[in-house]
Amino acid sequence: MRLITSTDEVSQITTAWREERQRIVLVPTMGWFHEGHLALMRMAGKLGTRTVVSLFVNPIQFGPKEDLAAYPRDLERDRLLAEKEGVDVLFAPAVGEMFGKHFQTRVSLSLISQGLCGANRPGHFDGVATIVSKLFHLTCPHTAVFGEKDLQQLALLRQMVIDLNFAIEIVGHPIVRESDGLAMSSRNSYLTEDERQDALCLYKAIGSAKQMVQNACTVAIPVLIDEAKRIIHAHAGCTVEYVHVVDRHTLAPCRIIDQNSVLALAVKVHGKVRLIDNALLLEG
Ligand code: PAJ
Repeated sequence: MRLITSTDEVSQITTAWREERQRIVLVPTMGWFHEGHLALMRMAGKLGTRTVVSLFVNPIQFGPKEDLAAYPRDLERDRLLAEKEGVDVLFAPAVGEMFGKHFQTRVSLSLISQGLCGANRPGHFDGVATIVSKLFHLTCPHTAVFGEKDLQQLALLRQMVIDLNFAIEIVGHPIVRESDGLAMSSRNSYLTEDERQDALCLYKAIGSAKQMVQNACTVAIPVLIDEAKRIIHAHAGCTVEYVHVVDRHTLAPCRIIDQNSVLALAVKVHGKVRLIDNALLLEG
């Protein structure tokens, strides 16, 4: 595996691969790899002949009061993990390499970035769309893999490739969970053992909503949402940022529950860690 930090170098190598008719798959990440990231890399290995993983803690997707400085980082640890997964290139540029002194462009999506996480994180999705556009240009992938854990991010990037004519297939990977159901996240490492137990309220709220849908012919969506909120608030130190039932593709609020209805939630655990999760309500 090659560790590349230069934008010119990653462009050169991926352009050469294109000439050799290799199929390039990109997995964008911010590092501090966990099993979720590694599962995306394994999927990438099956979808193409060359895998590029980018590792870049993207400053423009963090708000001024968010955890940019504290975000966990360990390049050497991540390098070894990516290498074990058969990744061909780990692209880990410095901030100055990605953003020149006079950088001022933003890729911005309107409707799809406004609700859910976008409502509480102004500018976040512009930062994501901008960095992912740059990564697409730099690495020329045929396919890019993203996790379904970040439901809004995935929907938004699918829309972006259509709107901006990127000839890139976007593939979603199911959420990878710990054995007790907690969705894996680099931010779980901020939690103490007790806080981690409280963080299970997201998964419990999802489980209860699915159960309610399974048990009843019709469930009123507000009832489902209220019950999810009740479960979350029953856990000490957990506060709801949002609980919504939305269409997995458009993110529009659902009026009835169908095959595409997702319960999506964001919870602040002990006032410090913001966690998100989601699940299809009619999935087994
Ligand atoms: P990061 O949070 O590092 O996540 C990188 C990729 O891993 C994303 O596609 C995310 O959805 C996926 N992922 C994270 N946890 C997962 C889990 N438990 N199961 C399945 N997939 C999971 O998302 C970002 O970075 C950034 O916003 C990025 C797209 C790299 C742009 O900076």
